[in-house]
Amino acid sequence: MSLDELTKDKKVISILCNQFGDTGKGKFSDFFADCWADVIARGTGGNNAGHTVYINGKEKVFHLLPTGIIYDSEGKKNILGNGMVIDLEVLCQELEELEKENFSFNNLMISNNAHVIMPYHVERDKQDKNLGTTRRGIGPCYTDKIARRGITIEDIHDKLKLSRKIEDISEFYPEQKIEPDIIIEKLTNYSEKIKPFVRDTVKEMHKFIAQGQKILIEGAQGLLLSIEHGTYPYVTSSDCSINGTANGVGLSAKHIDLSLGLIKFPFMTRVGTGPFPTEIGGLKSEEYCSKGTDHDIFYEVSEFLKMEIDLKEIRDAQSYLEKKVDLQYNGISGNPREIKKNMLKKFKEEAHDYIKNNKEKVLELIHSDDLFLQGVGIRLSALEYGATTGRPRRIGWTDAVMAKYAANINGPYFILTKTDCLEGVNNFNICTEYGSVPEEDKKSFRKDEKFLRSLSPLYTNYKGYGSIRDIKNFDDLPQQLKSAISNFEEFTKGNVVIVSIGPEKDQTILKSC
Ligand code: IMP
Repeated sequence: MSLDELTKDKKVISILCNQFGDTGKGKFSDFFADCWADVIARGTGGNNAGHTVYINGKEKVFHLLPTGIIYDSEGKKNILGNGMVIDLEVLCQELEELEKENFSFNNLMISNNAHVIMPYHVERDKQDKNLGTTRRGIGPCYTDKIARRGITIEDIHDKLKLSRKIEDISEFYPEQKIEPDIIIEKLTNYSEKIKPFVRDTVKEMHKFIAQGQKILIEGAQGLLLSIEHGTYPYVTSSDCSINGTANGVGLSAKHIDLSLGLIKFPFMTRVGTGPFPTEIGGLKSEEYCSKGTDHDIFYEVSEFLKMEIDLKEIRDAQSYLEKKVDLQYNGISGNPREIKKNMLKKFKEEAHDYIKNNKEKVLELIHSDDLFLQGVGIRLSALEYGATTGRPRRIGWTDAVMAKYAANINGPYFILTKTDCLEGVNNFNICTEYGSVPEEDKKSFRKDEKFLRSLSPLYTNYKGYGSIRDIKNFDDLPQQLKSAISNFEEFTKGNVVIVSIGPEKDQTILKSC
């Protein structure tokens, strides 16, 4: 099938994740923003997301702005919708970076009704001990929204109202000394910068629909992290399903005429705590990954691949950057930050090269008898480290039972991603049944923790495959991979429309369905 056939007569397409996030929304939002959309809108979450795109072979991560912003000069409109929570400092940093790289953002629109992540939200989130949140203030900000005391983008442009609201809110943050004047002073620069872009974006979206413009809705996080449908309470605080995502840009899910659900295949990942039935290495992996950046890519290349790397220098730079808010707060120049940031970037590139050049060592880990080491090997091979936090992602085999549940909510069309990352493995597994549970639960997903922690996943095992990165047609993929995909479709009653075999846009195989 061609792209034209896939998008024929479509006016609203959504890119959503059907697992626990980090499935490649960045690549596919970019893909459809580039070749199809007029308008790109994001409706949920905040800078807990990290959408990675490659521009001329260079990696770029967006946390807030829709990835379509890089097509602003072509007149494409990018929208931060009403359902989002926005950290103004992060937004302004993203805008500054665009300016530095000579990207325009003239057609950006920011919803007047989106909520603002305040410094006290971030502080409160740092106290989280149980969920392994991204510590970006997402949960506390949505809590204030639901409690009807949140601060919106509109509010920050009215100093009197803002001061009164912050004053009132402070009783809910007794552990912090909230000083409205200091917060307002800090926000002023940011609020002035974004002012020209603030709109009633719901009205704008309705206008775009009436004009028949092609709208791409960019999801964030993933269905299994949705406050409504995910593995509660180990979830984010927004509804990142098709419904919440449409809602967050002022539309109904009914407007979406093609919803594409991303699935990492044949392995999947999760960050933070919470049940993950197919996790390779089980509890040991969960505990190890919960140590966050202690076990990041730098640690793992040094510990498991014996790369010589100066971990102390890296840790010093990371802790310096962690303190960025306080430093800026005191008016200290940003220059040293840039130096440390670039240094870490260089170390990261070296680590990536080392992994690429030591493929045999990585495969040795994947083929080890120790499940924990198998997980480490896949993580290294697929570079599964948080784009927002740098945390190691937990690794498991793709769970088709979970995918069927997701398809029942988000719709039956799938994009399979990161399939190339398991090149060279002897075997792979897909979970198609849950063991140790009553008969009626064997093939259906339930989101409660007790159920998910008590079951034992049953796998269909497939022979591995070699290099697939240069394949252009679905029919030319290795037979065992095609069988796994076809069995996955049959089980989930879904349709795979795209298989992604690399980070670049041209490493994308369209499949007929
Ligand atoms: P929060 O969204 O920061 O409140 O974190 C709640 C949970 O969602 C934690 O387990 C996070 O690791 C997870 N989470 C939030 N955003 C993402 C994402 O973009 N990808 C993967 N996991 C995420």
